[in-house]
Amino acid sequence: MNNNTTYQTDYSELLAGQEGSAQALLIRHGQVGDHQSVRTADILIQNGKIAQVAAQISVQDIDCVVIDATDKLVLPGGIDVHTHFNIDVGLARSCDDFYTGTRAAACGGTTSIIDHMGFGPAGCSLFHQLEVYKGYAQDKAAIDYSFHGVIQHIDDEILSQMQAMVSDQGIASFKLYLTYQHKLDDDAVYKALSQLKKVGALTTVHPENDATITIKRAQLLSEGKTEPKYHAQSRPLECEAEAVARMINLAKLADDAPLYIVHLSNGLGLDYARMARANQQAVWVETCLQYLLLDDNYYDREDGLKFILSPPLRPEAEKEKLWQGLIDGSIDTVATDHCAFTYAEQKQLGADNFAQCPNGLPGVETRMPLLFSEGVMKGRIDIPRFVELTSYQPAKLFGLYPKKGSLEVGADADLVLFDSNEKQTITHDLLHDNSDYTPFEGISCTGWPVMTLCRGAVVACNGKFTGQAGFGRFMHRKPFSA
Ligand code: URP
Ligand code: ZN
Ligand code: ZN
Repeated sequence: MNNNTTYQTDYSELLAGQEGSAQALLIRHGQVGDHQSVRTADILIQNGKIAQVAAQISVQDIDCVVIDATDKLVLPGGIDVHTHFNIDVGLARSCDDFYTGTRAAACGGTTSIIDHMGFGPAGCSLFHQLEVYKGYAQDKAAIDYSFHGVIQHIDDEILSQMQAMVSDQGIASFKLYLTYQHKLDDDAVYKALSQLKKVGALTTVHPENDATITIKRAQLLSEGKTEPKYHAQSRPLECEAEAVARMINLAKLADDAPLYIVHLSNGLGLDYARMARANQQAVWVETCLQYLLLDDNYYDREDGLKFILSPPLRPEAEKEKLWQGLIDGSIDTVATDHCAFTYAEQKQLGADNFAQCPNGLPGVETRMPLLFSEGVMKGRIDIPRFVELTSYQPAKLFGLYPKKGSLEVGADADLVLFDSNEKQTITHDLLHDNSDYTPFEGISCTGWPVMTLCRGAVVACNGKFTGQAGFGRFMHRKPFSA
């Protein structure tokens, strides 16, 4: 018989005792949910891994900390596959590094991130940015992390480096851009898609039609139209939808290369993806909370600069079309594209000209509570679908499953406990990023993450960060398989 201590729902003593990193933990009587079902169960964690999941687990012979999760949901930790920590976008460097970004992620119920690396010097190898970003994250990340490779140009050397990136470095996905400084033309896109398919990597794309953006932006600025709302008018949704359709067709032509559309913001682009899937094409779609909850009316506000990102916020009607995609299964993941700049200083670079405003919004901490509240609690999606969108599909598509995104025995004990009765109104004071605002200020949530565990360690509890810089580990990902 042992002396196991049970911690009740406010968990404050658990933190006071610093026992969150004990060898064994029992999470008792939770509503345990994965991408398939929800049931009342206990979860035993040993050495950072899930050791047992059962209706009742006896720990008479095991020294462990017991957490009473009665009335709490216990779900796989969130996996945010689209962040930009410490990114230099030319106009500014984002204000969250791998410490403040992952601290915020942990407090919002996320236990792993995959960061989209920024561009390196022109002509650099695929390994260049990986080394730079490993340096950024090591000793800083508080939760587990990986990176998407970034393709800035295509030549024989780059094509030949792809295999080693996947097999030796564990980088099983890459992003290419159809706009911005290192945009690729059709020739390069086709070659990248073909080779990435051959080496077992998933191509992800930022799809926007660069030519029309360039023309429209120049036209608007020449007319003195410099306010934030003209950012949205310079890149209408057809810019994005055209590029989505082009990428889908190029992927088909490139031997049916698998394709993942990032940060989809509109219904027309989604319809193109739906058509491709109906045709059995390997296309997956990600959206973000800003496109589900905000719209282009925000650009008319006095603080409209806060909402400058690309693709921009869309007309109100687009939001419902995206929700429909979450409901009918044609959207696969919900990420954040967290790319934070301070409003007081960095966003003000665009005060006289929207084109000088660094693009991006914070969101890594609010993804799980907002989707839970707006999706599950408002009855649009159920809990298994919530898990599918936030954890299971991200893990499957990006080579992390079943170590991540699952509650199987042997999986990493990455968990989030949600209190579905807790009500919170989002305000930046609650959050743990390094920005000075949240685009979701004032939105009321029902349901809130009350505890986050990464590999069995309590990294956030009751709104407090309890993790450590450097605890996060680089995740070597498996090659892509559908
Ligand atoms: O405006 C945005 N989304 N900034 C981040 C970079 C990107 O395009 O994903
Ligand atoms: Zn992008
Ligand atoms: Zn992005």
